[in-house]
Formats: sequence, C-alpha cells, structure tokens
Amino acid sequence: MKYIETPDGSLTAFSERFGQAYSSVHGARSQATTVFVEGTGTRLHPDPRVLEVGFGLGHNFRATLASRAAHAPLSYLAFEFDPVARSVLERVSNEQDAFWQIVVRAWQPPLRVEDDGKSLEVRLEDVTNATLPEAWATAVYLDGFSPTANPDVWASPFLARLASSMASGGVLATYSSAGAVRRGLQGAGLIVEKRRGLRGKREFLVAVKP
Ligand SMILES: C[S@@+](CC[C@H](N)C(=O)[O-])C[C@H]1O[C@@H](n2cnc3c(N)ncnc32)[C@H](O)[C@@H]1O
Repeated sequence: MKYIETPDGSLTAFSERFGQAYSSVHGARSQATTVFVEGTGTRLHPDPRVLEVGFGLGHNFRATLASRAAHAPLSYLAFEFDPVARSVLERVSNEQDAFWQIVVRAWQPPLRVEDDGKSLEVRLEDVTNATLPEAWATAVYLDGFSPTANPDVWASPFLARLASSMASGGVLATYSSAGAVRRGLQGAGLIVEKRRGLRGKREFLVAVKP
C-alpha cells in the first residue's frame, strides 16, 4: 500500500485497482468532514442513520464519530467489496476514540459492532447488487471513487436505488459535481444543490429527498 500525506496532516492511500487515491490528496480528513459529515448535516442530527458507499480507509466514519457528542447515537451501514487490511486502518488513523478501537480490533468484514448507542455494520458486498434498506438513511455518503474510474456506482439506476434507501428529508453528499451525476440525482427525485468545495475541488453536491 502506498500512503500519501495530505496537507491537513491526515494520510490517504493509493488504490492500484482503481488507479486513484482513497480520499482527496488535498486533505483526506477535511474532505470527510466538510463534504460528508457537514454536507449531510450528520454532525447535528439527533439520531443519524448513515449509509456509505465504500468504507475504504474509514476516514468518513472516523470524521462522523469525531463530530458527534460523547454518547450521541449513530447507526452506520457501509458497503465495501474490497476491504483493506487491519494494518492499513491502523496506519491511517491516530484516533483514540473507544468505539474506533473496538472496530479496529474486530476488523474482518463482514462485521457488526455495537457499543454505547453506536453501531457500525460493514457489509462485504458489491453495493450495486446489494439489497439496500428502504426509506432508512438520514444520510448517504456516496464515496466510491470517481465516475470515470468506477462508473457503476454513479449510474442512474443505482442512484435511484440510493434515493429509495433514504428517509424523507435525508441528504446525500458526494464530492463529484459532474453534470451527469447531478442529472442522475435529480432524475432520482432528489433536490440537488452545489456547495463550495475545498482546495483541489471547486464544488461538491448535496441532494435532499423531499
Ligand atoms: C474513494 S474510496 C472510499 C473512501 C472511504 N469512504 C473513506 O472514508 O476512507 C472508495 C471505496 O469504495 C469501494 N467500492 C468501490 N465500488 C464498490 C462497490 N461497487 N461495492 C462496494 N464497495 C465499492 C472501494 O473498494 C473503496 O474502498
């Protein structure tokens, strides 16, 4: 695994399979916090249920944990068909969060971990063929590599299935602002808004289920 130190001090890694980094090389932790946690409003949600496309290095999960008050509830369901080794998770994270430590010790997807009102389930499945919960997610983190590198997770029929997995008022966030993605999300019945992006990315998208 080739690691890349990003300007905010967090580490990402390079995926040989997809030919790109797991997170923004301009700031892996910043992307997780700004695009996914803040973009979906999960930090302040009283009882969030997050569905993630691509658990990867767990940056989005750790940023979500870090954003929540102690003992605040969180249900997190992630799909990952090519999980990294535990040693990789240890290398890219320096969080002492107790729940994260439990996850690292248990790491061998598929897995389900619960403690103190929080749960993480990582399903070892291709998300495009998986059964998704219906009208469940308050937040969807669409983070499955770029549309060019991994078109399957950006295709309109799959975006429509993601929309069906969202509860009314749920918010999907993604770092891509490609026109085809925007139209796919609109076609799935979501109200799409562009947000100002971070360094290296002018804009990202949030999409709300009415
Ligand atoms: C950009 S990385 C995700 C980074 C991650 N969200 C994080 O916070 O570190 C994309 C991840 O999606 C996974 N992935 C891509 N396509 C997938 C699919 N169809 N089903 C399940 N996982 C997929 C890849 O294996 C990879 O780990």
